[in-house]
Amino acid sequence: MNVWTTRGNMDIEAQKRAAGEAAIEFVEDRQVIGVGTGSTVKYFIDALAKIKHRVDGAVSSSEQSSKLLREYGIQVLDLNAVGTIPVYVDGADECDGARHLIKGGGGALTREKILAAAAQKFVCIVDAHKCVDVLGGFPLPVEVIPMARSYVAREIQRRGGMPVWRTGCVTDNGNWILDVHGLRIDDPEKLEADWNQITGVVTVGLFAHRPADVVLVGNGRRF
Ligand code: A5P
Repeated sequence: MNVWTTRGNMDIEAQKRAAGEAAIEFVEDRQVIGVGTGSTVKYFIDALAKIKHRVDGAVSSSEQSSKLLREYGIQVLDLNAVGTIPVYVDGADECDGARHLIKGGGGALTREKILAAAAQKFVCIVDAHKCVDVLGGFPLPVEVIPMARSYVAREIQRRGGMPVWRTGCVTDNGNWILDVHGLRIDDPEKLEADWNQITGVVTVGLFAHRPADVVLVGNGRRF
């Protein structure tokens, strides 16, 4: 899947660029930077390339971001060799007022959740149309072990969701994704905890127990 593809108009594109470039202020000298995945993050990577002499490298949430980072001459490091990362910059598909997120539209949710967990500061960059009162309008991605796909789908249906298999998509971890429609997520922490317990689920693309620390919106708002 090409996660660089944008799905909006020029205003949205300009906001993605503005948010990506704004995140550079969180990058300090001689740090290893956590870098996410998607069309908004691409603008962050473009901006990071301009100050690459100041950073010690990056840890990336996808093969696609790693490739772009390397093309720019930014060293891509293994998280196991780096330990805690001071700052992680990534996009989101939806964001509520408590900085809870839906992520995984680009299929990189598991590595994204690992980087968010390992980061001291998680900076989320979005355009304004991603900001919502209640999460669930964007179908919630769930990465599953392939042999568990139909079992997990039934368990999700039992919980009121409508799972759709993202056909043709194999994650960087060799797994599959169910996109769950028809949700209104009033209690993101509860849903994340519950669905994480379904056997065969690798990652639920709901970032509630570890939300973003700061959200930079492309229209200049931040919270
Ligand atoms: C990747 O798996 C996602 O979590 C992205 O961060 C999210 O889909 C946002 O992508 P865009 O910046 O392309 O909208």
